[in-house]
Amino acid sequence: VKDRDDELVEHVRRNRTAWNVAGAKYVVESDDVLEQVRDGQWTLLDEELQLLEQVLDRAPVVVHLQSGMGTDDIALAANGAALVIGVDFGEVTTRASAERARALDRGDAVTYVVADALDTPLTRGCADLVYTGKGALMWLPDLTAWAREAARLLRPGGHFFLYEAHPAAPLWTDDPDEAGLRADVDYFGGRRENDTFPATAIARFGDDDTPAAVEFQWPLAVVVNALLAHGFVLVHLGEYPEPFWKPRGHAAAWDGRLPNAFSLLARRAD
Ligand SMILES: C[S@@+](CC[C@H](N)C(=O)[O-])C[C@H]1O[C@@H](n2cnc3c(N)ncnc32)[C@H](O)[C@@H]1O
Repeated sequence: VKDRDDELVEHVRRNRTAWNVAGAKYVVESDDVLEQVRDGQWTLLDEELQLLEQVLDRAPVVVHLQSGMGTDDIALAANGAALVIGVDFGEVTTRASAERARALDRGDAVTYVVADALDTPLTRGCADLVYTGKGALMWLPDLTAWAREAARLLRPGGHFFLYEAHPAAPLWTDDPDEAGLRADVDYFGGRRENDTFPATAIARFGDDDTPAAVEFQWPLAVVVNALLAHGFVLVHLGEYPEPFWKPRGHAAAWDGRLPNAFSLLARRAD
């Protein structure tokens, strides 16, 4: 167990270093993103708004695990959240997100904590809604610890929401004319060195010692079962052809026939 724990800690450490270096991108682009948020270019997806409508109507306290560039935090506050606490281990990113929230007069409703999403310093039961996703799960080496922390943060009866890349998406090839399967990706598990983002930002802002981030492959059943094992009741599971992010151009596999994103709404049992 100790070897396994050491390995998990090492993965989190390595990913934190990679993401902190890549965070420079968010600082460089911060003013542009500020204008884009003002223009209404960064909103929650229609599917998210539909699924979260009733929860957001009750002015929830939201904990956003792996809050990243923070645009969803502004959108959650704009759509009814009383308070959004973004949790991300990226110091550079969270600082840029906090500054942007203040510049948008959302400083009272959006705040940040620099921490590991698997082990946050937040109080048990502090959240009405734990929100996460859009490129979050693939960086986590342990979904049991993740589901346990989400359950700990939620008050009884509180909601958990995930909108995430579908675990099948890494299998699709980039051929724009024909859908195909990559031979080097295993749907059911494994890990791989990141070569998209944050790798592109590391090439720009990092040095030779900056490690590549590690991506983990979590099948849908593993995600769902991790939550069910920690006292969650499944409310909704959705699969969508449209990816929330198109890292490799637009492949034929993305033209409506294959899953590229999924949503999950669950409730913590009372
Ligand atoms: C692709 S970003 C997506 C985040 C967010 N959904 C967004 O739209 O920006 C992934 C984020 O996860 C964060 N991250 C990765 N592993 C983490 C961990 N163990 N604890 C906290 N944050 C983590 C990274 O710093 C990064 O900001």
